[in-house]
Amino acid sequence: AVFKAVHHSVPPSLSGRRPTKISVVGAGHVGMAIAQTILTQDLADVLALVDANPDKLRGEMLDLQHAAAFLPRTTILSSVDFSSTTGSDLCIVTAGARQIPGESRLNLIHRNVELFQKIIPTVAAKSPECILMIVSNPVDVLTFVAWKLSGFPPNRVIGSGTNLDSSRFRFLIADHLQVNAQDVQAYIIGEHGDSSVALWSSISVGGVALLSCLEKEEINYEKETLEKIHKAVVDSAYEVIDLKGYTSWAIGYSAASLARALLRDQRRIHPVSVMAKGMYGISGEVFLSLPAQLGRGGVLGVTNVHLTEEEAQRLRGSAETILEVQSHLEI
Ligand code: NAI
Ligand code: 2OP
Repeated sequence: AVFKAVHHSVPPSLSGRRPTKISVVGAGHVGMAIAQTILTQDLADVLALVDANPDKLRGEMLDLQHAAAFLPRTTILSSVDFSSTTGSDLCIVTAGARQIPGESRLNLIHRNVELFQKIIPTVAAKSPECILMIVSNPVDVLTFVAWKLSGFPPNRVIGSGTNLDSSRFRFLIADHLQVNAQDVQAYIIGEHGDSSVALWSSISVGGVALLSCLEKEEINYEKETLEKIHKAVVDSAYEVIDLKGYTSWAIGYSAASLARALLRDQRRIHPVSVMAKGMYGISGEVFLSLPAQLGRGGVLGVTNVHLTEEEAQRLRGSAETILEVQSHLEI
């Protein structure tokens, strides 16, 4: 034996702990960026990977397993048939087509709905108690599709949504003001995509409300400057896709931050895609991003953030854009 046993019984506090299991469906650029962030941040005891391409999948699994000596202990599994995902606490879906340069996210809808019809019922059957996190695009519509196909309650189906756009927004504001992005509170809400809405009225930096501070100090700011920053957020993914072909690192960190909030019951507020019916005058069944409190039960609530009339109108416009796409689907 390698060890001489000194204690035969496992302390009750340890024996009672159930291992945390996360599955990542789709081992492409995004799935692997998420997987590697989950590993380095020690968020799971078991990580299961699924992909339709068996060689790529096994290659990715082995490559991560070979880093075991440098990482917290995590069992890494893989399967093309979803068998490795059984009993997951969180299933993150990244499988599907991605945009080519210049293509919009919404253009992916038919290819990815067809794929979801194949994979979501299986994911849900293997892990009936899990929280489903959708990342594949167009993420808001696919979160709605996953909600329908899984039969899960809406609090257990979320889309990664504008958690990523909000990070891009915070980065741009922080860069402009030469402060740390973590001290910038700022939200992009609505569609993760071209019709997203920037909440200028609620931006604060270190507790200082940005717009009212500029007004009080009589610092002129042009509405166009604000629009330009929002446009830069919207254009971010297009620019990265033009340059490197896909986006991966930022969504990897974004999804891992959501996994932490959910599985560690952090009760943090993240802008993610949630069922928005009945909020801000939205009457249709639509998933879009609103600042939501996340914990072990999934979506615990949505903050009652104050929107100006213009922001609320833009949000309803974003809901209409998503609903229009949904209206052509048969699920
Ligand atoms: P990719 O092409 O690198 O990976 C997609 C993977 O899905 C491939 O490995 C493919 O084999 C796999 N796949 C296809 N059919 C499958 C099936 N039936 N079962 C299991 N796996 C299957 O694409 P990438 O760059 O990883 O992007 C994936 C998705 O994520 C795209 O829809 C993209 O638009 C989206 N995305 C979403 C973001 C967000 O913020 N919500 C950010 C970045 C990308
Ligand atoms: C992103 O925003 C393409 O949705 C992807 O990076």
